[in-house]
Amino acid sequence: MFKGALFDLDGVIADTAVFHFAAWRNLIKKYFNADLPDELEEKTKGVSREDSLRVILDYLQISVPADAFARLAEEKNEAYVAALEVLTPDYILPGIADFIQTLQENGVKLALASASKNGPLILEKLGLSEAFDAIADPANVANGKPAPDIFLAAAQGLGLAPADCIGVEDAVAGVTAINASGAYSVAVGGDELNHAKLRFKSTADLDFTKIKTAFGKID
Ligand code: BG6
Ligand code: MG
Repeated sequence: MFKGALFDLDGVIADTAVFHFAAWRNLIKKYFNADLPDELEEKTKGVSREDSLRVILDYLQISVPADAFARLAEEKNEAYVAALEVLTPDYILPGIADFIQTLQENGVKLALASASKNGPLILEKLGLSEAFDAIADPANVANGKPAPDIFLAAAQGLGLAPADCIGVEDAVAGVTAINASGAYSVAVGGDELNHAKLRFKSTADLDFTKIKTAFGKID
């Protein structure tokens, strides 16, 4: 049985993915009068603020000097944080509160493994800060997802080996990061996440017993 659960935040615990991409869309419209296609959203999921901006500027084939790049990232974050004002526990994704409770009842420790520097603020607004035994700080890891660093830091924060943990993700880069860390990847989402060891269509479908059984079958 696993002893720890390493959670992504945006799109797994909180319904915030839409706020991230809306903030990018508004910013890009304002400064470059360009529209971002829906398909670009997956490429900005799970990756850091700066890597998201790189993905977007590459798509637009625009290059900007370092100071302008930093200002764009900062302005996106200001808009994103302003949008988070509306956040309440209602923004916890379906099934997550029950899933967290079941994990706790089974003695599983919880850690946050999010690329977001706004993780602690969001957990606070959702009323979930107390549920987490550790929060890995993305500012303190060398490499963002798809590198394993944030999941390794989250497992370490719980005092556990990654092999004794599951990781829960909704992004392609995030599932790759869990696999590279040695934790057992559980995905919520579509076929693009088929590199996960176990996949559920949505957070509402997360099933503790199924995960426990599948984890128990690893050799
Ligand atoms: C991830 C999101 O959780 O956090 C990404 O999926 C985002 O879209 C990243 O870029 C960084 O978030 P923040 O809040 O630090 O800008
Ligand atoms: Mg996510």
